[in-house]
Amino acid sequence: MSHVLAAVAWPYANGPRHIGHVSGFGVPSDVFSRYMRMAGHDVLMISGTDEHGTPIQVQADSEGLKPRELADRYNRVIVEDLHGLGLSYDLFTRTTTGNHYQVVQELFETLHRNGYIVPKTTLGAISPSTGRTLPDRYIEGTCPICGYDAARGDQCDNCGNQLDPVQLIDPRSKINGETPNFVETEHFFLDLPAFAQALGKWLDTRDGWRPNVLRFSRNLLDDLQPRAITRDLEWGVPIPLDGWRERGDKRIYVWFDAVIGYLSASIEWARRSGDPDAWRRWWIADTDGEDARGYYFMGKDNIVFHSVIWPSLLLGYSGEGDHGGEPGRLGRLNLPTEVVSSEFLTMEGRKFSSSRQVVIYVRDFLARYDADALRYFIAVAGPESQDTDFTWAEFRRRNNDELVNDWGNLVNRSISMAAKNFGAIPPIDPAGLTAADEALLATSRAAFGTVGALIERHRQKQAIGEAMRVVAEANRYLSDQAPWKLKGEADKPRMGTVLHVALQVVADANTLLTPFLPHSAQKIHELLGGTGVHAPMPRIVEVDDLDGGPAYPILTGDYRDGARWESTPVEPGRPLAAPKPVFRKLDESIVDEELARLTA
Ligand code: MF3
Ligand code: ZN
Repeated sequence: MSHVLAAVAWPYANGPRHIGHVSGFGVPSDVFSRYMRMAGHDVLMISGTDEHGTPIQVQADSEGLKPRELADRYNRVIVEDLHGLGLSYDLFTRTTTGNHYQVVQELFETLHRNGYIVPKTTLGAISPSTGRTLPDRYIEGTCPICGYDAARGDQCDNCGNQLDPVQLIDPRSKINGETPNFVETEHFFLDLPAFAQALGKWLDTRDGWRPNVLRFSRNLLDDLQPRAITRDLEWGVPIPLDGWRERGDKRIYVWFDAVIGYLSASIEWARRSGDPDAWRRWWIADTDGEDARGYYFMGKDNIVFHSVIWPSLLLGYSGEGDHGGEPGRLGRLNLPTEVVSSEFLTMEGRKFSSSRQVVIYVRDFLARYDADALRYFIAVAGPESQDTDFTWAEFRRRNNDELVNDWGNLVNRSISMAAKNFGAIPPIDPAGLTAADEALLATSRAAFGTVGALIERHRQKQAIGEAMRVVAEANRYLSDQAPWKLKGEADKPRMGTVLHVALQVVADANTLLTPFLPHSAQKIHELLGGTGVHAPMPRIVEVDDLDGGPAYPILTGDYRDGARWESTPVEPGRPLAAPKPVFRKLDESIVDEELARLTA
């Protein structure tokens, strides 16, 4: 058993999340966390809404709201979306809590004291027409590194490099096309080159990462530049240094505060748990004489922040960059074990785009389809290690052919046959098991090892494929054994044995599929006569801010009571009733209906 931190990327609170977002950070992190808990690990799964930065400010301006009001609105929407998907966060919080501000400022101060944060005068962009600061990401121009002509002031989406607006060739405002003026302004910079060596050493010891992610991360080390971590902005965490704290016009950069959320949310979780030091078990090596592991889940546009920026903050805080230094009061903090990044999901061949309506929001999806239908699609056909397209036709096909026909039918026919003929789980006939019975039982028992190891290594597509292979074997077994033909008095004991074996394999397959399909797993557990919690679910709780700020909703849950990752023998004699179908078949018409909603 070990302590496993599942650190899930923080969704921006500037709009509802679409299925592309949750396919990157959401479902994979929940599948992993659920499996690891079932396998006996002590999992802490944390995240929250990312609420600072220019995108929120700009969006709020356009809706005539204060940034906090906009964030309040979408924080709640996102909490409800993630709840609807059954994502089992121990804590899903937000970046506007008093606790988060304290932890961010603690890291900033310590990094500054250790010499990793230095002030510098730079050129900042001003809009000539409004006189206001023009945020980096609202400036567009040609990338000085790769020549891409639509690079943003903060980053080039083509080569992935971090940029400053002043580096752009031919810069222009994305808001109104004007050429910005650059004026002198003072900002703080994170001395990234001072971590190059330590980062390289750390990356050299990483194995098992997805090859794309490791390669991309290594390449980033070749060109580390000091990086601005404050902004000319009123919305964000104040800079905790004398002469800066009181200033209304300078704030800490949103990405600096957001990644620290992993730590602050762990601390908030511990404070709420009644043991304020409990977070240390996931963050400080050897607190319990054992190693903690930390897995970070995100889409690929977030890699640089998790494999360069966040580890640098952790190293600097611990005094482990080129300038040395002393660890801050929280102690020496663990670096990530693995950055688990997925690729992009597209929608009917196009990039998701809210403005062009190439989108389906989670809440709209859940209003029309079941959460497990989406979870199934993402697990089996999601963008795990290459860009992948979502199409309604394929969603419907997978739902109908695989979820309903293969898995749903197996559940349905084995339980209904047993209910009808025995009214309960039948016993194994004293004549014993045949080679075919033994072979099927052995297949499903062996799958616990295979599927578990694949999930632990973030090969979820292969993992669910192996679980569905057990389902296919069980369907073949039922066709071969044809228990419906064993109706005569003399054959009935054999019919009981076949159905017992089938129900055992249904129970096993259900456990194997629980991390992927928790809602239906709970239902199938009950159809098999089980009681109690099989797949625990998160709940939404309204809480007070721990440091006096306004109340807010969190996602949390008690996940200790769920099923274990093992084959649990079904009990002969346990009453069975005729089952209701667990999965819904989707009519052909939904494809055209949904396509009609996507306007060109
Ligand atoms: N808000 C960012 C995004 O949606 C992700 C932030 S992950 C963080 O791309 F935790 F590092 F903040
Ligand atoms: Zn570029």
